[in-house]
Amino acid sequence: MPANARARFERLGAAVTAAAILACASPAAAAPGDVTPIPAEVTVHAGGFRVPETGAIAVPAGDAAARRTAEILADLTAKAGGPKLSVATAGRGVVMLKRERVKFSGDEAYALAVTPTGIEVRAPTDAGLFRGAMSAWQLLTEPRPPGAAAIIPAQTIDDAPRFGWRGLMLDSARHYQSPEFIKALIDAMAAHKLNVLHWHLTDDQAWRLEIRKYPKLTDVGAWRVPAGEGPARDIDPATGKPRLYGGFYTQAQAREIVAYAAARHVTVVPEIEMPGHASAAVAAYPQLAAAPNPPKDVPADWGVYPALFNVEEGTIRFLQDVLDEVIAVFPSTYIHVGGDEAVKDQWKASPQVQARMKALGIADEHHLQSWFIHRMEKHLSSRGRRLIGWDEILEGGLAPNATVMSWRGISGAVAAAKAGHDTVLSPAPTLYFDHRQSASPAEPPGRGKVISLKDVYAFDPTPSELTPEQQRHLLGLQANLWTEHVRTEARAAHMMFPRGLAVAELGWSRPERLGWEGFERRSKESVARLRAMGFPAAQSASDGVHTPRDPRRRDNRELAPCTDKIVLALEDDAPVRGERAVFLTDIMESCWTWKDAELTGIGAIRIRVGQLPFNFQIGEDIKKVTLRASKTPEGELEVRVGDCKAPPVAVIPLTEAAKNPAVTELRAALPGASGRRDLCFTVARPKVEPIWAIASVELEPAR
Ligand code: ACM
Repeated sequence: MPANARARFERLGAAVTAAAILACASPAAAAPGDVTPIPAEVTVHAGGFRVPETGAIAVPAGDAAARRTAEILADLTAKAGGPKLSVATAGRGVVMLKRERVKFSGDEAYALAVTPTGIEVRAPTDAGLFRGAMSAWQLLTEPRPPGAAAIIPAQTIDDAPRFGWRGLMLDSARHYQSPEFIKALIDAMAAHKLNVLHWHLTDDQAWRLEIRKYPKLTDVGAWRVPAGEGPARDIDPATGKPRLYGGFYTQAQAREIVAYAAARHVTVVPEIEMPGHASAAVAAYPQLAAAPNPPKDVPADWGVYPALFNVEEGTIRFLQDVLDEVIAVFPSTYIHVGGDEAVKDQWKASPQVQARMKALGIADEHHLQSWFIHRMEKHLSSRGRRLIGWDEILEGGLAPNATVMSWRGISGAVAAAKAGHDTVLSPAPTLYFDHRQSASPAEPPGRGKVISLKDVYAFDPTPSELTPEQQRHLLGLQANLWTEHVRTEARAAHMMFPRGLAVAELGWSRPERLGWEGFERRSKESVARLRAMGFPAAQSASDGVHTPRDPRRRDNRELAPCTDKIVLALEDDAPVRGERAVFLTDIMESCWTWKDAELTGIGAIRIRVGQLPFNFQIGEDIKKVTLRASKTPEGELEVRVGDCKAPPVAVIPLTEAAKNPAVTELRAALPGASGRRDLCFTVARPKVEPIWAIASVELEPAR
């Protein structure tokens, strides 16, 4: 990782020293085949190789690809606290990269042998050699107890992947990540044989890729005022207006990321969303909009906006021009055009769209979306590329060569494979890494449902409905990191790994080689290596479980939301700088319970509350937000003992708290309560905005 990226993570408290982390990660001795994803075949031999502190990686003379792989191996090995290696073209090395046929076929197959004299990696292809080198990297950087000699057990490995698409999606639209971070993510992926980075570059809240022909896409589309009171009060002295959040990738930066990934045998698949998720684009170029008066500013709410592109020929050409520039930057076979969540209201309401639909002889708006996607598919095919889109592209008829990314469960993948189309599995919620991965209060914000490492590992990427012939259309699987609630790079790293390791293993390893206990142990080693490299992978409980420790205090993550409508762990919008509270709340219903609180001897309760903007586009469902009858203009926090239908024992006005955009502590007497009882907290408020949420609750002994 470049020094500036390392510094960035260090500021976030991620990296200690490589040696310290490696030393304390795992007391277990290295086991043969201790590689993640677990290799297809491992044979153990007597003895082992003692890893020296320095040495060479030997590559065949004149083999530029092998040399590049060796340089990356040397770099990653040093970064993870392993031996200092240099690249040489003659003699024996600590590692020897060789061009030879191997047992398994396929572009990524390799063989590896550890003997008492070194590690030999063999493959006929560039990709196979790189994958084998990453296995060598793991063996060279095995975490070990302090003072223990680095001895790799003698072994042979024959290995090849199960699936060709082992992906992670990074949403750089909702929040921007630096090129340095993206390169660090690519390192983490490549080190574990993940091979597709799906890069979500455009959405309602931002357009992040420079398009030379249409500069306003980024001049306007890459910048927004974040939602909420905090950002509204954060005035930029240069403009006298609220400070803008944003950024974009120049084509030169994107090319550099693509090249960096290619050297690590990772393909970057760009996504340009259409015909929905188009707010930022239509704010920049209103002539593209289906609605008559599109918003002039890029919006900052989450959820699904109604904004669609119109279906004029000029708009189709505009988007094809965009795709042409995208193609020139990204050499990937696949180009992702989104296609998801295009609510058809604006098309239904637009006389121009309706007239064009009629003129084209198209029956309804679903078929119109299908026509739109067909136009893009034809365009991409004419340039030798293939279209991939979210499973909504099945609606109204799938374009001939289109590939389907199934996110609404796996039914889209099943339908696509049955119809003879290729498909990638990335079902919500299991492969949606914006879900928090444990119930611990230390977890960063995310969707409320816990998707633990164990949950991801339990995902079965072989739908039983498919025949073996249809299964051949399953390209593989991918996890998606949407970043509405993932504001920082450190948090993105935390959400991606170690869960990304489970995707790597499900995608690479043969089903008979999978096993939770071995994987969990190896995942801790991989987390230690990544953290040693300055990439702050999560150290959350693998099973996602958390048990509260303090009998008198509950963080909001230790309370249970009363309902399960849209439960999110949301970060406060204030203060703009510094630590912010995180609130676990159902945005449709402000109600929490503390099960079995010990109330004997308790005289009062202290509740820290905060307010959040209701910045969620949920359409008509906004009418279903529970408000409850309030007595004051700002509303009240109500406390009940027993259950949520009992009369309140305390009603605390929010008048003072309303003046503070950050967290405010409220206090109420709790006289006469005793025994173990449930506590229920609800908010009565006159309007949807703001959402009131609890940061923590503390019971105060009676004096
Ligand atoms: C998606 O989550 N809308 C693909």
